[in-house]
Formats: sequence, structure tokens, C-alpha cells
Amino acid sequence: MTDRNLLLDIARHYGTPAYVYDLQDVRERYLHLKEHLTGLPADVHYAVKANAHPEILRTLREMGSGADCVSVQEVERVLEAGFAPEKVLYTPSCPSEEELRRAFELGVRVHIGALEYLPWVAEHYPGRPIGLRLNPDVRIEGNVKIATAHAGSKFGIPWTLNKDLMKMLRKLPLRVTGLHVHIGSDVHSWQDLARGVDFLTDIAGAFPDLTYLDFGSGLKVPYRKSEREIDLAAYADHIRQRMKALPQLRIVLEPGKFLVARSGVFLMQVTTVKRTPFKTFAGVNTGFNHMIRPMYYDAYHAIENLSNPGGKEQVYDVVGNLCEEDTFARARRMPEVRKGDILALHNAGAYGYVMASHYNLRPLPKEIIVDGNKIYEA
Ligand SMILES: Cc1ncc(COP(=O)(O)O)c(C=O)c1O
Repeated sequence: MTDRNLLLDIARHYGTPAYVYDLQDVRERYLHLKEHLTGLPADVHYAVKANAHPEILRTLREMGSGADCVSVQEVERVLEAGFAPEKVLYTPSCPSEEELRRAFELGVRVHIGALEYLPWVAEHYPGRPIGLRLNPDVRIEGNVKIATAHAGSKFGIPWTLNKDLMKMLRKLPLRVTGLHVHIGSDVHSWQDLARGVDFLTDIAGAFPDLTYLDFGSGLKVPYRKSEREIDLAAYADHIRQRMKALPQLRIVLEPGKFLVARSGVFLMQVTTVKRTPFKTFAGVNTGFNHMIRPMYYDAYHAIENLSNPGGKEQVYDVVGNLCEEDTFARARRMPEVRKGDILALHNAGAYGYVMASHYNLRPLPKEIIVDGNKIYEA
């Protein structure tokens, strides 16, 4: 999403703050991923938590994607968007029995992530195919907030409890047709993700009813110019090698940001340029109530001054309008920022709007769709 004039037109016409999503780019990302999975019996289940906009869901459904949901509300959203229940996975964290019941009734595939749920599932849904989310205790480099498969993490059935698990599976009427692991998000090295693949392929033989292995996602996308996308070709080759011994199984990947991060831009307007003896602040008409990644994950997002691209470069802290510390970028060199300028925060399609709130009672940002020549608010 890089057409400066188009983004400026959108900002003028629809106002800011606003997310803009390019559906054609989402299609390209999906095809790019599928190309690398050629020859593998692979199903892509888009991780809806990254961006649940109905137009994004419709686009990915039309491309052939399934969905991975983490809440019943996401399940309902994707069913409304026309996904067939059998193409929907539900991988919740600490669900209530009510939520599990709803998911089973809607006919989607439920992934269970704690031993404690299994007796209840066996009692209420005996013989119903389920998946198990496992925790192999894999530690990875990177942001600890998005590492999800180490022993200290709340996610998944700890594999250290495998004897208890196997005992339950022998005793109870449970049918485990899938195994799931999600190493983390934004994983830099394919070798780290491969550890999840090795783990599941090593233990698959212990589960006689298996039909699929779900390797989650974590597929990294570049946020800085110096960063590279995860080496998908190497990762896919590794999966191919490991799956040779398990030709009867399908595999699942659940990418979120890989499919939608690049396709989204967050537009904001400069309300004030404030100079102090120490620094210059570019204050904008939004905050972490609308885009929390820089503050919560210390995530870097490129910020472009759309309305003054040729300005003389200066250094700014780009800050929000909340009564909190909410800094989008520190000491960022960018073309001169003036009151009224329109800034574009790039790579905003994933974990942007979905994490937005009404904090400070401000309304949510708009969402604008670009699909070729068509531009609309939806
Ligand atoms: C269970 C599960 N699957 C898939 C994803 C998507 O991860 P990513 O956006 O890194 O592709 C997540 C995100 O944390 C997740 O929790």
C-alpha cells in the first residue's frame, strides 16, 4: 500500500484516523504463500485475530482459505462471512464451557489446550473429532510477549504431561484428529518454527486417529528496511522432508500477519508540532487506542510523511493524543512535519484495528477498502 497520492486522497475524502486495506495485496500474499506450499497437502487457515474485517475475510475465503479463530465471536464472524464450518478451526485460550459448547454446536473444529477440559469434552461430545494444542517447551529468540510454546507460557497442553494425556485418551471417548503447535508470532528464523514441526512429526505416531498436523504460524514479515521476510522456501522444504514419513496426514498453517500486515496502512493527521529544549514532538490525532503495536510490543513501524515528502529531514518523536505515554516512533528521522500533515504508518493491516479501543472515550478509526479502482468505507 504505497501510492502516496491515493492515500492522501483517501485521507482528505474520508478523514483520519483511518485504516486502509488493499484487497489486491491480500490476494497476492495468499498466492505467494500457496506457491511455496506447492506439493504439500497443505490447508491455509487465516488467523482471524490479525484482522477480522468482513471484506478481508470474504477475500481470503474466495481465495480458498480456511479460518483460525480464537473466540466464539470470531467463529460467528467467519461463518457470517460464508466460511463453511468444516474450514474453521477454533483454538481458544481459557474458554468457558459455554463457549466450547457454542463452538461444538456451530460445527467447527475445536482445539483443546489444557488437560482439564478433556473429561468435560468426553462427557458432552464423546467421539467428536477434536484437535489438541500442545506445548513442547520451545524457547525462541524475539519478543517474549509473543512467544507461546515455552514451559512458562499458558498455551497448550505441556508435553511434559504426556503420560497423563495418554492415560486420559485411553480411558475417555475422545477422538484426536489433529495436533496443533504455535511457537509464537513474528518468528525471525524458520529453524525456530521447524522445531514445532519436528516436535509434532515425532509424536504423531502416538495418535492413531490423526488426519492433520497444525503448525500454527509465526511467519515473520519485515517491518524495517533491514529486515527480511521469513525464509518460507526453506521452511516449506523442511516440512516436506518431515512429512515424507506421514503421507496420510494433511498439514495446516495459520498465518495472520503474513497475509495482511503489508496490506494495511494507518493514516493519521498531525495536530501539533511541539518543540522543547530536548526534542521535537509530532503530535497526531490518534494514539494507542487505535494502534497499540509500537507501545505494547515495542514494534517498529515505518512512518511516511505523505503530504510533505520533499521536506528537509528532521528528527521527531511521533506521539499520540492520549493522556498516557503513547509514542509511535522515537527519534525518527523524517521529512519536515508540519501541523496538518498526513502521516502513514505502514504494515498496519495486522493487529491494528482489532486491538483498538474507546480509551479516553474516543471513537474507533474508520476502515477504508481499496480493491483495484474501487474505494469504499466498510
Ligand atoms: C493460535 C494462533 N494461530 C495463529 C496465529 C497467527 O500468528 P501470526 O500472526 O504470527 O501469523 C496466532 C497469533 O498469535 C495464534 O495465537
